[in-house]
Amino acid sequence: MPRQILVTSALPYANGSIHLGHLVEYIQTDIWVRFQKMRGHDCRYMCADDTHGTAIMLRAEKEDITPETLIQRVWDEHTRDFAGFHISFDHYYSTHSEENRVLASKIYLALKDAGLIEVKTIAQLYDPVKNMFLPDRFIKGECPKCGAADQYGDNCEACGATYSPTDLKNPLSAISGATPVHRDSEHHFFKLGECEAFLREWTTSGTLQAEAANKMQEWFASGLSNWDISRDAPYFGFEIPGAPGKYFYVWLDAPVGYMASFARYAKDNGLDFDAWWGADSKAELVHFIGKDILYFHALFWPAMLKFSGYRLPSAIYAHGFLTVNGQKMSKSRGTFITAASYLEQGLNPEWLRYYYAAKLNGSMEDIDLNLDDFVARVNSDLVGKFINIASRTAGFIHKNFEGKLAEGVANLELIGEFQIAADAIAAHYEARDTAKALREIMALADRANQYVADEKPWELAKKPEAVYRLHEVCTVALNLFRLLTLYLKPVLPKLASEVESFLAIEPLAWSDAQTLLVRQRINPYNHLMTRIDPKAIDAMIDANKQNLEPTPAPAPVRHAEAQTHAAQPSAPVAETIGIDDFAKIDLRIARIAEAAHVEGADKLLRLTLDLGPLGTRQVFAGIKSAYAPEALVGRLTVMVANLAPRKMKFGMSEGMVLAASGDAPGLFILSPDSGAEPGMKVK
Ligand code: MSP
Ligand code: ZN
Repeated sequence: MPRQILVTSALPYANGSIHLGHLVEYIQTDIWVRFQKMRGHDCRYMCADDTHGTAIMLRAEKEDITPETLIQRVWDEHTRDFAGFHISFDHYYSTHSEENRVLASKIYLALKDAGLIEVKTIAQLYDPVKNMFLPDRFIKGECPKCGAADQYGDNCEACGATYSPTDLKNPLSAISGATPVHRDSEHHFFKLGECEAFLREWTTSGTLQAEAANKMQEWFASGLSNWDISRDAPYFGFEIPGAPGKYFYVWLDAPVGYMASFARYAKDNGLDFDAWWGADSKAELVHFIGKDILYFHALFWPAMLKFSGYRLPSAIYAHGFLTVNGQKMSKSRGTFITAASYLEQGLNPEWLRYYYAAKLNGSMEDIDLNLDDFVARVNSDLVGKFINIASRTAGFIHKNFEGKLAEGVANLELIGEFQIAADAIAAHYEARDTAKALREIMALADRANQYVADEKPWELAKKPEAVYRLHEVCTVALNLFRLLTLYLKPVLPKLASEVESFLAIEPLAWSDAQTLLVRQRINPYNHLMTRIDPKAIDAMIDANKQNLEPTPAPAPVRHAEAQTHAAQPSAPVAETIGIDDFAKIDLRIARIAEAAHVEGADKLLRLTLDLGPLGTRQVFAGIKSAYAPEALVGRLTVMVANLAPRKMKFGMSEGMVLAASGDAPGLFILSPDSGAEPGMKVK
């Protein structure tokens, strides 16, 4: 019996670009969906942009456009980027849709009828200039714990403390710069605490990964607080029925967006909405999410569905976070690589799909995109092992046999082993352990290569008496190649479709693993995949770094080859910039804790910079001609702390020390006046 499976990925925020971190999720989900479809199941993949909230409202204001115009533009970008990575949504909608307004309101009213909504007056920080309540992210001040300046209203990036915005010292509105005042307002709360018995039971129903179920136990232990689901005007979102001036908090209508996306799709495709979302639906509902949004999906969402009379999720699959070269992706550090910049460098999206699949194992562990390993692995597995099988045998079929495969195959035993593997590989895909699936597939590819190496078709081709054997060997090899293609198809859909054209076959379904390809006329072989050129990776990294640097001036501010920035004497004074541009540069006082020669480098010193509460950084500076390492240790200087880390021949350089130079020889490191402390901001 085919299963009915409704699958979702989390709805990306409409205030930013899709980056390689997001793609972990969309690629993981897409592989699973494609796999289910190849198995013959009735699987529908829904998603949408998450469009509401203060951030989007303010961004539109800043660009002087309506939020509607902004979210339409971002929708166009997001859908283009996803298509570029072959993400095959059946429907990609928007949370700013009529279906979503209707469904969110309906769910809210049902919860209200069930006695689960409570209205309470609370005090919040209010911006008296901008005339609005300030979300945590729009309040900055000094950390109440460690005193670090310029911290957000919810947590401190310097010491990691979390707190309430009303605890911040010397708070300021990040919107207007005004000092916020306390003001009362009525808020609507969802009484999550009353759903505890249901949630405790649901947690043990097998819907969650073991790690997620454990996390839930921690949340129960610390107590479920009621959830504030309303925000005051001005807010970009849906007004709450019966509460003028109050809007649904973005996280209330965001998951309802899964339903709304399906509702529209069902209407356009003649499906019965209730058969998929009704309380007695027989369909499966599977949510793929990142571990950061588990709380919303494992607590709020099932409780909302349960007490408003809808079906519950069958599975919530959380994945970990992406790191790049072992470091957390972060805008200010520049390891934030956009999907568009990857594609713009001409990098093949299937390389990344393959690499992520090779790393994902169905757990919540973080996964690392190590760029050297990426190049090595893709080149060796996909080009060296997989494609190689076809490229070493296909030519003979055309040259010697008019493009036709042999009538039958020899070595049924080897082919049989490949066919038997179908079930185990399918089980790994089903369990989202694509790492294991690909390991098995590559072990088969090794065997296929061994077969070709043993049979040596290029030698058979030289002997007229071996022509029959040559035909058989190439036919066996291409059958093995066809089976490998089938197994890789959820990960490499485009490549698989090119192989299907080359072999002149119908789109491969999972059950085709049990058939063979003989007597068939195939098309001439064209090279199917190239190797990754590491230069394209470097170019991509550079492109993302530039994103974060100040607007280039006509005479570009030169990065001295080592990361010391000395003003260029003969260059004209750079174009003027606004205060906002300057504010992007995070200048900090640093104490040079260590300084050392770098073996093999004649200009560089390796500096360890102490930034006080911000930790330490390693920087390579081109100042060896001017300073002996011993002369530097202990002194204070100024560094650019948010310069994207750069991988240099000798290691990572995580910032830049400021130095002056002119026409005359000499290089002069900047120092602060006495009294400055490591970590202080220079402004
Ligand atoms: N809008 C919410 C989701 C609402 S779902 C009803 C949101 N959006 S997001 O754009 O921040 O993230 C979308 C998905 O991408 C989330 O599942 C998130 O975990 C995932 N990722 C975002 N950055 C990521 C990494 N760096 N690594 C892996 N996944 C990450 O959250
Ligand atoms: Zn702190």
